[in-house]
Amino acid sequence: PPSLESLHEQLQALSIDDQVPVFPDSNPTSNPVDIFRCVIAHHLAPITGVDIKLVYPALEWTQTLDKGDLILAVPRLRVKGNPTELGKQWVEKFPDSPFLERPKADGTFLRFYFKNSVLNQVVLSSIIKRKQNYGPVNSGKGKRVIVEFSSPNIAKPFHAGHLRSTIIGGFLSSLHEACGWDVVRMNYLGDWGKQFGILGVGFTRFGSEEELVKDPIRHLFDVYVDINAVIEEEKKAEREKLGLPEGAKLKYNGPTDDEARAFFARMEDGDEEALALWKRFRDLSIEKYKDTYARLNIQYDIYSGESQVSKEAMDKATAMMKEKNISEESEGAMIVDFTKHGAKKLGKAIVVKKDGTSLYLTRDIGAAMERYNKYKFDKMIYVVATQQDLHLQQLFKILELLGFEWAGKCQHINFGMVQGMSTRKGTVKFLDDILAEAKERMHEVMKKNEDKYAQVEEPEFIADTVGRSGVMVQDMSGKRINGYTFDIDRMTSFEGDTGPYLQYAHTRVCSILRKADVPMEKIENADLSLLTEPHATNLVRCLAQYPDVLQQTLKTLEPTTVVTYLFKMTHLLSSSYNVLHVLSSEDDVKCARLALYESARIVLNNGMSLLGLVPVERM
Ligand code: ARG
Repeated sequence: PPSLESLHEQLQALSIDDQVPVFPDSNPTSNPVDIFRCVIAHHLAPITGVDIKLVYPALEWTQTLDKGDLILAVPRLRVKGNPTELGKQWVEKFPDSPFLERPKADGTFLRFYFKNSVLNQVVLSSIIKRKQNYGPVNSGKGKRVIVEFSSPNIAKPFHAGHLRSTIIGGFLSSLHEACGWDVVRMNYLGDWGKQFGILGVGFTRFGSEEELVKDPIRHLFDVYVDINAVIEEEKKAEREKLGLPEGAKLKYNGPTDDEARAFFARMEDGDEEALALWKRFRDLSIEKYKDTYARLNIQYDIYSGESQVSKEAMDKATAMMKEKNISEESEGAMIVDFTKHGAKKLGKAIVVKKDGTSLYLTRDIGAAMERYNKYKFDKMIYVVATQQDLHLQQLFKILELLGFEWAGKCQHINFGMVQGMSTRKGTVKFLDDILAEAKERMHEVMKKNEDKYAQVEEPEFIADTVGRSGVMVQDMSGKRINGYTFDIDRMTSFEGDTGPYLQYAHTRVCSILRKADVPMEKIENADLSLLTEPHATNLVRCLAQYPDVLQQTLKTLEPTTVVTYLFKMTHLLSSSYNVLHVLSSEDDVKCARLALYESARIVLNNGMSLLGLVPVERM
């Protein structure tokens, strides 16, 4: 079998320097498949007469390996002639290569297959050498991205939209970070607005200092519910007094609402006492959020929020909008009529209220400006539910109309709804409840297998970790835009494509390596040419794809791209166990197979960690 050194020599003989990227997106040192891309492009360029720089990116990976390890759609090269005929001719002229089997012409496609012996060598030794660094390529080096995600509202429930934003945003942050980006994780809290006037008044009536310190998020929510009930009562009384029907809008909402309004007005005017109380609510809530996010492996760089947007930034934005004729007056308020700016679908939006106060949209405009000034980001991602599509389109359009060259660097990553998010105790209100429920259910599932359960050392920890995996994988299994039904039974099951299944696959491969008890040094120096069975070959080819999967994910920004891959890989892995035995094999075969299993373990571990899961070794 060719050694890695001799492969490098052969590459150099083809004038492919695998240490230096030959093409903008090529990383032969971290992505073994790029070696083959280089080789194929090198041969195809003279045959097709197309510039090698155009051939290279036309070589695509495939989801189903029987179609080839890499394929080329002949029409992509834009060579005159019948694509089927061209394909045939090119294949005939393609020279024999130590790296490749004979390519196949199949209709308008060329299919390339890597030589097993070479593939085993470059892929498995690369994985075992790079370990947790296998997968990502450093394509984001020197670039900065802000990922704004989760962004719950203080004193209001943490709903499914926030859960999805947290999971997807956490993943997108890790993905960019792994690919070399400088990532700023930002939580933009809903921490300003009239609801804080309501909360302020509510706290003076129903608040408890003790409860606040103990569990601020829950207590503030309870206070908020109680005081709102009072306001609703007063509104009802007012309607009855005026003989109005249920739900009718009122000019005067009763004394408590008035008090709340006044409280928020004091906050807006900078009243120290009102602000001090608000700040305590905010600070204590953030402390609590930090703990909960930590359970999902998420740490924020910044807890920003609507309250943190400076008046100066917003004033500047409104002045610019006026000056550039983006906004206009309408009934005392300031609005933007998008229909006049070539964006019919966006309708109209208020940017400054009649009383001069700002709105959600205004704060977002100011926030974006401040963020650009502070971070000079290359990309800013807003992970927000699809219900806010219009809001973000309006925001981005205004930034564009304001002439900011960075407006195009803002991106909305949206997602669909989750249905039926409830626990046995009722509808979910807090992230903590969701995680607690998943843990409890997982614990029950584990207890069903008494023998196994008896061997688990830290059942509480395992139940919590695996339960969380269930919640997260369920969320990341489909395309973001598709909603799903929150199904705690399904997500905590070991059957089907679930988080617990991935955890199980990880523990199983760990246990095989543990039981074999062969020193890592022997595994690292295994003779990989002994891996000849189709099961081995297919698994290696699948492991080879992982770096390309991540590159693809950077384009789709879909967690499911990674999740789907991991299920495909673990299915191949689990079907290998019956064929590629370890314990009963001869020593050298054993070592080669262990090298394969160790590589699979590394890729599974890397993929799971990237998704935000904590892979467990035993359960
Ligand atoms: N707090 C908002 C909500 O819960 C989400 C914030 C989204 N981000 C933004 N920049 N508008 O609906």
